[in-house]
Amino acid sequence: MEKLSSKKEAEIWVIGGSKGGTGKTFIASIIGTYLARKGKKVILVDADLGGANLHSLFGIERPKKSLTNFFETKAPLNELLVETGIENMSLITGDIHSLASDNIKYTQKLKLFRHIKKLNTQYVLIDVGAGTHNNVIDTFLFADKKIAVLVPELLAIENMYHFVKNALFRKLRMALRAYDFKRIAHETWADRETKKIRNLRGLIDYLMGLPDIGDIIQEELSDFKICLILNKIRNKQDIFIGASIKSTFTKYLGISTQYVGFMEYDDSIWRSIRQRQPFMPNQSSSRLTKEIELFTENLLRGKEMRLLKG
Ligand SMILES: Nc1ncnc2c1ncn2[C@@H]1O[C@H](COP(=O)(O)OP(=O)(O)OP(=O)(O)O)[C@@H](O)[C@H]1O
Ligand SMILES: [Mg+2]
Repeated sequence: MEKLSSKKEAEIWVIGGSKGGTGKTFIASIIGTYLARKGKKVILVDADLGGANLHSLFGIERPKKSLTNFFETKAPLNELLVETGIENMSLITGDIHSLASDNIKYTQKLKLFRHIKKLNTQYVLIDVGAGTHNNVIDTFLFADKKIAVLVPELLAIENMYHFVKNALFRKLRMALRAYDFKRIAHETWADRETKKIRNLRGLIDYLMGLPDIGDIIQEELSDFKICLILNKIRNKQDIFIGASIKSTFTKYLGISTQYVGFMEYDDSIWRSIRQRQPFMPNQSSSRLTKEIELFTENLLRGKEMRLLKG
C-alpha cells in the first residue's frame, strides 16, 4: 500500500449529475473497488441523503451511524466509518432520516466538506444521488473531480444538460455574489435581442467580455470540468454518444468535458447487485474488467478516451 503523507489532503471525486437509475451508485462502488485493489486508500461517502443504498452493494447492513450524527451531535467523520469487506476501503453512509436535507445550511455543508478533505485517506468518492437539489449541486461543485454517469437515452441526456447548466450558473453566482451576478445575468438575458445573444453560450461569452466579472467568469469556467462515463451501452454506436455530449457542452455552455470511458449493459451486474454481492468481473467478463480499468485509469491520469471511428 502507498505511504500516506500526514499533510496531504484527500482527493475528492463526486459521482452524480444525472437522473435516477443511470448507475451512479454502482459506478462509485466499482471505481472504489478498483482503486482499493490497486492499493489506494479509499473512503466512500454515500451522500444520497434520501435513498442511501451504497452499503447494500457490499452486502452490509445499513450502518447504525450516519452523517446525521455528524450534523446533529458533531460526531467526527472517522467515527462513522464502516468496513466494506474490501481491503483499503471503508464507507460513511448518509442516511439522514431525522434531519430534513432541506434544512442543511450552506455553512454546515462547507464544514462537512472541510472535514471530508481532512479524512485520513487518499481518495474520497461521494455518491450524491439523483436530482438538482442544491445539496447535490454544491457537493458536485466542491469536488476535485466531477464525474457524471449517463445512459444513452434522450431523457437522461436532457436531464444531465439541465443539471450541468444549473451547476455552472450556481458556481458563477457563488463566485460573483459581490457583483450580483444573478441580476446582471437576468438583465442581459432579458435584453438578448438587442445584444444579439442567441443561447446560453452567447450569454456567457457576452458576460465574459464585461469589465471586472469577465476574468472571474473565465477562471470559473476553466475550473468547471466534467468527467463523463457512459453506462449501460448496448452497441458500438452508443460509445460515440459520449463524444456528442462533449461537443454539446462546449458549444452551448462553453465548458470542457473529458469523456473518460463507458460501461456496457450486462446482466451479471444487476444480478450481483440484486444478490447484494460486490460486483467482481470474472474471467468470462474480461471486457467489463477492461472497461472499468479504462475509465478509472483515465480518471487517475486526468486523461480521456481515444475514439477511433469505424
Ligand atoms: N452496466 C450495467 N449493466 C446492467 N445493469 C446495470 C449497469 N449499471 C447499473 N445497472 C443496474 O441499474 C440499476 C440502477 O443502478 P444504480 O442504483 O447504481 O443507479 P443510480 O444512478 O445510483 O440510481 P439512483 O439515482 O436512484 O441512486 C441497478 O439495478 C443496477 O444493478
Ligand atoms: Mg444511487
